[in-house]
Amino acid sequence: MQRHARRRHFLMCPPLHFDVIYAMNPWMNVGVPVDRGRALAQWTTLVETYRRYGHQVDLLDPVPGLVDMVFAANGATVVDGKVLGARFASPYRQGEAEFHNAWHRAHHSAYALPGTSLTTAVAEPGAVNEGEGDFAILADRILAGYGFRTSREAHQELATLAGSQVVSLQLVDPRFYHLDVALAVLDDLAEHIAYYPPAFSPASQRTLQRLYPDAVIATEPDAVLLGLNGVSDGLHVFVPAGAGHLIEELGRAGYETIPIDLSELAKSGGSIKCCTQEIRPAPRRDPQRTS
Ligand code: ARG
Repeated sequence: MQRHARRRHFLMCPPLHFDVIYAMNPWMNVGVPVDRGRALAQWTTLVETYRRYGHQVDLLDPVPGLVDMVFAANGATVVDGKVLGARFASPYRQGEAEFHNAWHRAHHSAYALPGTSLTTAVAEPGAVNEGEGDFAILADRILAGYGFRTSREAHQELATLAGSQVVSLQLVDPRFYHLDVALAVLDDLAEHIAYYPPAFSPASQRTLQRLYPDAVIATEPDAVLLGLNGVSDGLHVFVPAGAGHLIEELGRAGYETIPIDLSELAKSGGSIKCCTQEIRPAPRRDPQRTS
């Protein structure tokens, strides 16, 4: 199958204050020291790689004390130029949302395409949602995770804001506490995904099997390496290094894989996608291609 890249716009936040000082997922161990210099070097490689592939990366200023702010995917969800603010489940991370909202308010006109009218800059969330950690945006529907962080009420809020169908999927394995560590969007327009079935309840596994019979299926070793926490532009998949079986399968499915090592950030349970918030301008079906 012929795959096509589309130029993306990302918001990222350097891990200048990154640390593991509390544990809210099984990857986090406060007894294991983090090497912040190494985290920054790995993260910088990711930013440079995105830019080398033609993607736009904007940066959010990190805030002292907000040690998980590098995981920018959690800070907001942008669909068709509409922003749903985040409301974090844990008090440790709640402070991040206002900095994301302020960034989006300040830059909103920059990603409103000419001729489109964006009425609300940032919709304040009523229910707990951890942004793109639990929302996967595809052309005709949004997949939304619940079970550990984001609530089902938030799925409805995003459905209403985006005017999209939302499919709720139940996460059941605490290691895969966010949707974006259990499932990756490979081609948002053609609706092609990869996922690790046992991360989902039996009913949600049946839903995924019915909707995406041609999905790439990850193995447990892939998932444990956070292999599904990748970012795809439709052709190039920026994928956590080491997820060997998944990388092979992606190649077979027509993608070019670019392995990136974010092992220092994995100490907090996050990798490539967690660090990457995508800003999707209106209209979503954007014909621009980078290759
Ligand atoms: N330590 C962070 C947390 O538990 C990691 C977040 C990773 N982000 C993601 N989109 N999965 O919230």
